[in-house]
Amino acid sequence: MCGIVGYVGNRQALPIILQGLKSLEYRGYDSAGVVIVPEESGEELNIIRSQGKIAHLENVLEDYSLPGTVGIGHTRWATHGPPSDANAHPHCDCQKKIALAHNGIIENYLELQEWLIEKGHSFTSETDTEVLPHLVEEFYQGDLGQALQEAIKRLRGAYAIVAVCRDNPDILVAARKDSPLIIGIGEGENFFASDIPAVIEHTRQIIIMEDGETAQINREGAIIYKDGQPIAKKITKVDWTTETAKKGGYPHFMLKEIHEQPDALRHALKGRIMAEENGLTLIDHDFAGINAADIEKIAIVACGTSYHAGLVGKYVIEKMLRLPVDVDIASEYRYRDPIIDEKTLVIVISQSGETADTLAALRESKKRGAPTLAICNVLGSSISREADQVVYTLAGPEIAVASTKAYTTQLMLIYLLTLHLGRVFGKISPEELEVLLEHIYRLPDQLQNLLAEKEEDIKKLAALIIDWGNAFFIGRGIDYAVSLEGSLKLKEISYIHAEAYASGELKHGTLALIEEGIPVLAICTQRALLEKSLSNIKEVKARNAFVIAMVFEGSDSIIKEADRVFTIPDTLDILAPVLTIAPLQLLSYYAAVMLGCNVDQPRNLAKSVTVE
Ligand code: M6R
Repeated sequence: MCGIVGYVGNRQALPIILQGLKSLEYRGYDSAGVVIVPEESGEELNIIRSQGKIAHLENVLEDYSLPGTVGIGHTRWATHGPPSDANAHPHCDCQKKIALAHNGIIENYLELQEWLIEKGHSFTSETDTEVLPHLVEEFYQGDLGQALQEAIKRLRGAYAIVAVCRDNPDILVAARKDSPLIIGIGEGENFFASDIPAVIEHTRQIIIMEDGETAQINREGAIIYKDGQPIAKKITKVDWTTETAKKGGYPHFMLKEIHEQPDALRHALKGRIMAEENGLTLIDHDFAGINAADIEKIAIVACGTSYHAGLVGKYVIEKMLRLPVDVDIASEYRYRDPIIDEKTLVIVISQSGETADTLAALRESKKRGAPTLAICNVLGSSISREADQVVYTLAGPEIAVASTKAYTTQLMLIYLLTLHLGRVFGKISPEELEVLLEHIYRLPDQLQNLLAEKEEDIKKLAALIIDWGNAFFIGRGIDYAVSLEGSLKLKEISYIHAEAYASGELKHGTLALIEEGIPVLAICTQRALLEKSLSNIKEVKARNAFVIAMVFEGSDSIIKEADRVFTIPDTLDILAPVLTIAPLQLLSYYAAVMLGCNVDQPRNLAKSVTVE
């Protein structure tokens, strides 16, 4: 929800911290701040904070000189207290001796605050975070690490905390529970960060901190503690390039990530479908740990775009395996007393692997004895570590708030899982498997061609819809699931109000909103349902809606009826979502650009929602 960067080294800390914060802006961008340890001992910590984006903080910083080689930065997504200078992090203790940045929520902050006020501490912000430096101050007896360890024993909630103290100017200390934190190991310099892109320009050697761990870094290295005792941790070498984490020449991360989808799909397939001389083979090691024989039902739980991928999964798995699948929004799931047991495979889907509701749903499922499988993108994320098994989408870093390549790769993983289970259950014959593998294997190239061929047409179409404050997306079956994702994309980044309906449901109320010229995006790829879809298109056409249809080539009846048509390359009906979503992503993107919206960081949103 927020982004933290901490630096200890021999270079000037401020530019390194600001550059790191910019790569974490996707985690929150309503205010930002830095603390730099002064070079002269005994001086107060330099803390500068400002409401607004990091670019604004940079302007503010022009009026200051902050030399120093140790510091912490923070970019915030407000939870407790609105965005303001006072609520921005880092926060400090009464004497301005200890400062820290925090990501997460301290649930018992009111009771801690009361206790601290009784002890004479005073507060200057409305945040839950501000109790933390005061709590550390309360326990500080010359050792910052120990004081932090004492402080976190009193906390309820989620936190990644990075702290500094004027009296221990060469170290940073940190603690983690339910909010991500990594350590970057450099040469004569070390880092804390909420995510890898913040340090990738300086090091690829990463230690992923786990829940319950604390750590201390100085110029020489890092020590990680569990229950107060030093422990050995594995250093992971990440193979991202700096460029991977940047825009690669595109004006926005979202456009870059839309165009990365063919490659992301190829990555997702690598080592899972092998092309050999005698044809394609499914390599399903990744799913081998699932005890398929014991599964009587599947429950898919996720939020937002990942939830929409789960809905596609329901259609695919039920159709191909005749196995019942429930799909739940994670924030609803744990409070509705879900009917699951050890014979229900619970699949949690999450790009970030840190979404609080999905994580809570995963924990609830485990508590009830269900086997769990995570489909995740972020390596080492909380969800990927806590699920019984994890399969990675391997889409690479997704920076834009609007999820694109995570969705298509999630779909890919769902198809592969279905093939695996189908083979184990004997529901997919070797002949059917061969056909499915061939079509799946072709998808990356088909998507690449589609993106290359249709982008200009979609730009023109975006120009036609931006003057409308509303749009409708309709579809039947699996196309309905894609409609939901298409409408979310449009709302999220262009702020055009969009609703998705199962085509047959429109006439039960929503048809009243159809008026002359209103855009209706009709996704009609399910061949057996084309006649029904045509009737629904006629219903809105009769009210003079402007119909944009998305079909396979040859769907002539619909092509004749629609005002604009996008054809997608031929594939199996169940695989269509991988292809139909791309034009919808581009449509939303260009509509948002034309409307002057902040595409990569839409208002009120954050990439990773780590609060309930
Ligand atoms: O990281 P997750 O996949 O768990 O995130 C879930 C949603 O917050 C996310 O998909 C959100 O809906 C996207 N901004 C949509 O583009």
